[in-house]
Amino acid sequence: MKRLLSIFILLTALAVAASARTLIVYYSFTGNCSAIVTSLQHQISADVAEVQPADEGVDYAANNYAIGDALIDQINNAPNDPASYPAIKPMEIDFSKYNTVIVVAPLWWSHIGAPMQSFLFANSQNLAGKHIGLVISSHSSGIATCEADAHRLLPDSEFFDQNQWINNRNLANRDALIADWLKNIKYSAVTAINAVQEPQQPERFYDLMGRPLPTAPASGFYILNGQKHIR
Ligand SMILES: Cc1cc2nc3c(=O)[nH]c(=O)nc-3n(C[C@H](O)[C@H](O)[C@H](O)COP(=O)(O)O)c2cc1C
Repeated sequence: MKRLLSIFILLTALAVAASARTLIVYYSFTGNCSAIVTSLQHQISADVAEVQPADEGVDYAANNYAIGDALIDQINNAPNDPASYPAIKPMEIDFSKYNTVIVVAPLWWSHIGAPMQSFLFANSQNLAGKHIGLVISSHSSGIATCEADAHRLLPDSEFFDQNQWINNRNLANRDALIADWLKNIKYSAVTAINAVQEPQQPERFYDLMGRPLPTAPASGFYILNGQKHIR
């Protein structure tokens, strides 16, 4: 009986540790970033949130990408002005649930696509102190300017050492690229350490009647941080 209980407690603890503590937040205009997010979801346990422009049906690529270009220029001209960022639909995210956030966004004119910049600008405080993974999809342009955007928009976040660039030539190989990236940034190790560290509650022991105990009893049942234990 005691053994069965111990196994139950162990399994419960493992389930809590394995529950999603990562959020993937993405924007996708033509579907490439959506495909990258699907690949990520096959490889890690994470919740997913989609950034959506408030204006529906805008063709950012029309007239040689003119609308997207204008939105990026507007941000670059006044990056500290909230009015520079295009409106996005409201998103309900409990940021306290996550220690790691993976941002997946397209590159527009060398920069992070405008709707994702709106999300990052509005949530820089919510993302402060969190581990940020950046995955950028472009047709062919490199992502150095997007990396600079991300650091400007999230000055208080902890970026992984390496970001991931996926271009149209290697998009079909995204599963392997993502797997390598997760390995290179030691994703499992970082998230596992946080899962162990984050509870950080003071240890409070009670008997089964709810009376406080000075320490854990040498034997028998006790309650620690709301969980039943046996020795
Ligand atoms: C407004 C706009 C500007 C773009 N600018 C560039 C660019 O400068 N260089 C590039 O390689 N790709 C550029 N692209 C292509 C996208 O980065 C690429 O197709 C990306 O994979 C799109 O991701 P999505 O399908 O998730 O929207 C641009 C796309 C749009 C809509």
